[in-house]
Amino acid sequence: MQISATRLLVNLSGSSILAAMKILGIETSCDETGVALYDTGRGLLGQALYSQVDLHATYGGVVPELASRDHVRRLLPLVQEVLDAADVSTDQLDGVAYTAGPGLAGALLVGAGTARALAYGWGVPALAVHHMEGHLLAPLLEEGGPDFPFVALLVSGGHTMLLEARSLGDYRLLGESVDDAAGEAFDKAAKMMGLGYPGGPRIAALAEQGDPARFRFPRPMTDRPGLDFSFSGLKTFCMNTLRDCADADGVVSDGDKADVARAFEEAVVDTLLIKCRRAMDETGLDTLVMAGGVSANRRLRAKLADSLGKRGVRVHYPRPEYCTDNGAMIAFAGALRLAAGAPADLAIQVRPRWPLSELAPPA
Ligand code: KG4
Ligand code: ZN
Repeated sequence: MQISATRLLVNLSGSSILAAMKILGIETSCDETGVALYDTGRGLLGQALYSQVDLHATYGGVVPELASRDHVRRLLPLVQEVLDAADVSTDQLDGVAYTAGPGLAGALLVGAGTARALAYGWGVPALAVHHMEGHLLAPLLEEGGPDFPFVALLVSGGHTMLLEARSLGDYRLLGESVDDAAGEAFDKAAKMMGLGYPGGPRIAALAEQGDPARFRFPRPMTDRPGLDFSFSGLKTFCMNTLRDCADADGVVSDGDKADVARAFEEAVVDTLLIKCRRAMDETGLDTLVMAGGVSANRRLRAKLADSLGKRGVRVHYPRPEYCTDNGAMIAFAGALRLAAGAPADLAIQVRPRWPLSELAPPA
């Protein structure tokens, strides 16, 4: 198990890991409370996730204060649950990793404060993990996962980025969204169609019944050089198309919505594909890693794997539960950093805004 991850840990430590380490991972950056336990020798020992989707659904999006309060309620019971299920006692732990940013300030503080207090009480280091580095490394949790260097497409609710990942912590930004993130565009388009929150999976499900030939949405910023993205125009296009479909009472039929959902999804997927192709050409690398909530999208996974595969590019993506927010990716990122000698300070600090390119290799 964990072939690639173990190889990476072996490389990082210079020879081999003499004593395996157990790291508890805590994720609370948004609306998911995630806890996991990662063992550098044995892989993932357990994980638990509590999704606040129902809590926020009434409001059509995440309410930050409610998110923070719910993390307070869920976090410690989840930690207990993971340790009990894995039959690991607290004195066997070697560190606690937590998401320090980017994300919602209050939500991050719950995870940071709890993780640091636990680590202090247990006498082990606490490690601040960058949420997007967690996403980026998640595909390495899978058996046969990729090795550095690779190109990473990170597509989540808050970010859309293409990076050249050279080694742990050495990430060069190739391009990013100048406005909405891909996941945000999915969420906003879904809201317009009355599909509720979170929008990505609902648009994807509806698109299955849609006619791909009926509407053609633009592929933004693909007609000019560069690797940046823009998704806010697609939202407007979506709104106008829905308005054209509406009857005299403003009602859009389910069939029309499905066709719009399909056209919207195709446009996002094609745009991401075109930019990924360009990134592979520009870097000359042969491996693409896709991660973040939107990478759970089946059409995106299939189209990238098929199209880039024909050009000799290996495409890696994690299983769906590691695409969206989870504790496993944070435990894993913390484990890699601790194994590589990352220092652990005592400050309880979060960074709601934190460019991934500011990270440095742990040594
Ligand atoms: O990574 P993530 O769980 O949280 C953030 O860090 O933002 O990503 C959540 C985003 C949401 O915008 C959600 O609509 C989108 O990922 N998403 C999807 C799919 N599943 C989740 N978008 C398109 N297709 C999906 N199947
Ligand atoms: Zn995320």
